[in-house]
Amino acid sequence: MEFTSLLLVLLMISAVDSEETEDIKPTLSVWQQSSVFTGDTVTLKCDVHQSSGWEMFFFTSSKHESTEASGTKRISSVSVSDGGEYKCRARRGNYYTHYSDPVTVKVEERPEAQVSVRPGVHVYGGASVTLICAISGKTSVNSWQYNWFKGELDIQQNKQQINIRSVIKSDGGEYTCRGSDITGSRSSDVSKAVTLTVSDVKASLSVLTQSSVFTGDTVTLKCDVHQSSGWEMFFFTSSKHESTEASGTKRISSVSVSDGGEYWCRARRGNYYTHYSDPVTVKVEERPEAQVSIQPDVHVYGGESVTLTCVIRGGGVTVWHYNWFKGELHIQQNKRQIYIRSVMKTDGGEYTCRGSDIRGSSHISKAVKLTVSGSKAKAELTSDTEGSVLTGNTVTLTCVINQSNRWKFYWYQHTLNTEMKTTDKNTYTIHISSVSDGAQYWCRSGRGNPVYYTDYSDVVRINVTESPKAVLSVEPDKQLFSGETVTLRCDIQTKADTELTYTWTVKKYTQERIFRCETQECKLERVNEDHSAEYSCMGKIKNQKSRRSEAVRLTVSSHQASTRLRVSPQQWLTEGDSVTLMCELDRSSTGWTFSWFTQHNLSSGYELVSDSSGGSQGNYTVSSAALKHTGLYMCGAERGDPVYHTHNSSTQPLWITGVWSSVSLIIRPNRTQHFSSGSLSLSCEDHRSSTGWTVRRYTNTLNTCASSSVRSTGTQSTCSITSLITSDSGVYWCESESGHKHHPVNISIHYDDVILDSPAHPVTEGDSLTLHCLYRHTNPSKLTAEFSKDGSVVQNQTTGDMMIISTVSKSHEGFYSCKHPERGASPQSWISVTGVQEEMSALKILSFLLAVCPYLIVTVVLVFKCYRLRDETS
Ligand SMILES: *[C@@H]1O[C@H](CO)[C@@H](O)[C@H](O)[C@H]1NC(C)=O
Ligand SMILES: *[C@@H]1O[C@H](CO)[C@@H](O)[C@H](O)[C@H]1NC(C)=O
Ligand SMILES: *[C@@H]1O[C@H](CO)[C@@H](O)[C@H](O)[C@H]1NC(C)=O
Ligand SMILES: *[C@@H]1O[C@H](CO)[C@@H](O)[C@H](O)[C@H]1NC(C)=O
Ligand SMILES: *[C@@H]1O[C@H](CO)[C@@H](O)[C@H](O)[C@H]1NC(C)=O
Ligand SMILES: *[C@@H]1O[C@H](CO)[C@@H](O)[C@H](O)[C@H]1NC(C)=O
Ligand SMILES: *[C@@H]1O[C@H](CO)[C@@H](O)[C@H](O)[C@H]1NC(C)=O
Ligand SMILES: *[C@@H]1O[C@H](CO)[C@@H](O)[C@H](O)[C@H]1NC(C)=O
Repeated sequence: MEFTSLLLVLLMISAVDSEETEDIKPTLSVWQQSSVFTGDTVTLKCDVHQSSGWEMFFFTSSKHESTEASGTKRISSVSVSDGGEYKCRARRGNYYTHYSDPVTVKVEERPEAQVSVRPGVHVYGGASVTLICAISGKTSVNSWQYNWFKGELDIQQNKQQINIRSVIKSDGGEYTCRGSDITGSRSSDVSKAVTLTVSDVKASLSVLTQSSVFTGDTVTLKCDVHQSSGWEMFFFTSSKHESTEASGTKRISSVSVSDGGEYWCRARRGNYYTHYSDPVTVKVEERPEAQVSIQPDVHVYGGESVTLTCVIRGGGVTVWHYNWFKGELHIQQNKRQIYIRSVMKTDGGEYTCRGSDIRGSSHISKAVKLTVSGSKAKAELTSDTEGSVLTGNTVTLTCVINQSNRWKFYWYQHTLNTEMKTTDKNTYTIHISSVSDGAQYWCRSGRGNPVYYTDYSDVVRINVTESPKAVLSVEPDKQLFSGETVTLRCDIQTKADTELTYTWTVKKYTQERIFRCETQECKLERVNEDHSAEYSCMGKIKNQKSRRSEAVRLTVSSHQASTRLRVSPQQWLTEGDSVTLMCELDRSSTGWTFSWFTQHNLSSGYELVSDSSGGSQGNYTVSSAALKHTGLYMCGAERGDPVYHTHNSSTQPLWITGVWSSVSLIIRPNRTQHFSSGSLSLSCEDHRSSTGWTVRRYTNTLNTCASSSVRSTGTQSTCSITSLITSDSGVYWCESESGHKHHPVNISIHYDDVILDSPAHPVTEGDSLTLHCLYRHTNPSKLTAEFSKDGSVVQNQTTGDMMIISTVSKSHEGFYSCKHPERGASPQSWISVTGVQEEMSALKILSFLLAVCPYLIVTVVLVFKCYRLRDETS
């Protein structure tokens, strides 16, 4: 450039000069390089300073002149022949300027570029690659600038060589280059494209040791890349993170089970990573345990057969090679079992074993010591009972042998020729059912194949005695009432002085269970129906059972006990009659004490008159009834501990009619039966005194007749009820101040239309008796009635409305009633007959006795005296 501007300055100077001179000389200049490569373009310019209108002529040494009116000559795509010297001159009109100074144009053949690749165009990832750009042809350029292209892209590299230390896949592609001179105005051709191909590399992993190992072993893995060196290796496992090993070898010493699994590797050089290797599986198993077992036992007797077995667990190995050691000594036995047919004392010692396999070997087993006793074994027999055994119990015999493994036990009894039984357990239980089961027993044991027998044990004698039977007794009774207390007692006859224990069972329907009571006596308090069951008991003497008692059935009623009082023969008595008050329970049972109570008068309470013991019935008999026995009676019963009381019975009255009395009970109307709503008056009349008597009555309660509660009027000794009601029915009598009761009469009040007119007082034998039928409102038109005694007709209707018995006898006593064909029947009434003859005969006997007595007394005294005389003389 400096050169060009210098030229321009020179040209300007020369132009000024030519202006000044006459001769004008144009200047020829080259616009671009004057030194170019074939194919470039060269532009020449011819200049004249003096104004315009010039025509320019260009000249070259090789070619003819050419005219360019513009003053500029352009030679495009020059060839070597275009090189040479160029001149120009100008013309205006006829005037020609001088020639310009020559200008040299230099044309050189354009050089070629070429890319070469070392080591080759096909490389593996990670390889070191050099791309070289070579420019051929002779040129005047002595220092090239380089341009590199990858595909279309200028990769901005101006060195002749590109070095890639470690190619990666993306380094592959089409490479071209070109050279250019320092000014950049001339450049070579662009080289042909060279394609670089980068192939991937895959690492390979191998196991140098066994790939299947036991824990504690060492595993070595090697990672390989075929391509040269300089790689860094990485190892991977499924379980753990990667690890780097520059050497390419990974060593895992003393592996554990967790080290097992898949392994891979890959390598790196520079930025290039190889593919992962195929996986390799490392299998780690627990190192198997070995164990020595000795059959039948580690303690044996000389002569027994013994088997030692090496048991190896785990490892997945089915066929082991066995190694046996006795102490430190390796005994050459490649067998799983060592069998010693007849063991000797010298066979004793510590045994160990170990298994081995191509993979490795098992642990060595723990030492097991075999002890061989020199002497012969002897069994020892014991029994769980001391003293005699009771029948119905069991005896357990125990056969003891010191080394207790794998023995069989053989049992013997003296009454049997052969052994009684063989058992695996060392106990034998004998059920003693009878005294004849008493025997001598012994045992021995044996084991192994062939069987080794111990010596026989000493003999044990089992003595048997008959078991006593329990006896169950019940107090007070098996038949019980709800609420009672019952005591069950178990008795066992035994000579044993030890304490007994008792077991009670209760059986209800078919279900039997243990009853919660462990003593000899069991009390059931306040029993109810649920206690109805069968009870039995059993005793135990030193763990030996007695025989069980017979079952006893308790029957408990659903209700509490109550009594009923019955009077026999009847409540209405004449002085001197005999009467029995029977107190009965509603169920049969025993062990009761009966009590009778009486209430004599209104104000006093019930007082005890008698008691007696008995079964379910008690009798209180009054052999000769007196007036004082009139009263209300009631009874009750009790038994047990604590005492259980029955309900008291309902009350029953006893009425004793006196034979003779100064007082009379006057009844108006004078009869037993009365219509309801009718009126009644009663009065006590004494021939001797007009006071001191009271009319009393008993309906359901005791009352004075003339009292407001009876709705009657009158004085003490009289009472009149104006409107009778049925509850006025009852017994009425006269009672003295001292409580004597006279003339009790049965008065009954009826709703009926028909009643019987019968006497209220007893009728005396020999008197006549008249009975009427009475009608409530009006008498019927036809007065005919039928009379019945004790339910059967004694007089037909045809006979009229009256029945007359002219001479009454004791046989006429009974219940009478009458019946009208239309009006219906009357209620019954009792007609009692008193024996006047009996009273008379009683008086006769009395007077007879009064007459005879003095004679009798004299006779007795005389006889007595005689005896005493005889005694004195003898
Ligand atoms: C069995 O009775 C015999 C005598 O008859 C006696 O010598 C022996 O000791 C008794 N055995 C037991 C276990 O009581
Ligand atoms: C059992 O072993 C003990 C010692 O351990 C010995 O004294 C006893 O006699 C042995 N008994 C039998 C039945 O072998
Ligand atoms: C009741 O009777 C008792 C005995 O029978 C007698 O001692 C008592 O005085 C009587 N009382 C009355 C108020 O009658
Ligand atoms: C009670 O008397 C009745 C009748 O007199 C008789 O049948 C019964 O056997 C007697 N009972 C007792 C326990 O004496
Ligand atoms: C029965 O009556 C007597 C006399 O009144 C009385 O002492 C006793 O408590 C009564 N018994 C019952 C169970 O009520
Ligand atoms: C007393 O009269 C009643 C009816 O009121 C009768 O049931 C009872 O049997 C009579 N008693 C006697 C002993 O006549
Ligand atoms: C009542 O009848 C009896 C005979 O049953 C007779 O002895 C008595 O005198 C009569 N009394 C009156 C007051 O009619
Ligand atoms: C009652 O009269 C009938 C005839 O009408 C007679 O056959 C019967 O024997 C009589 N009975 C009595 C107890 O008189």
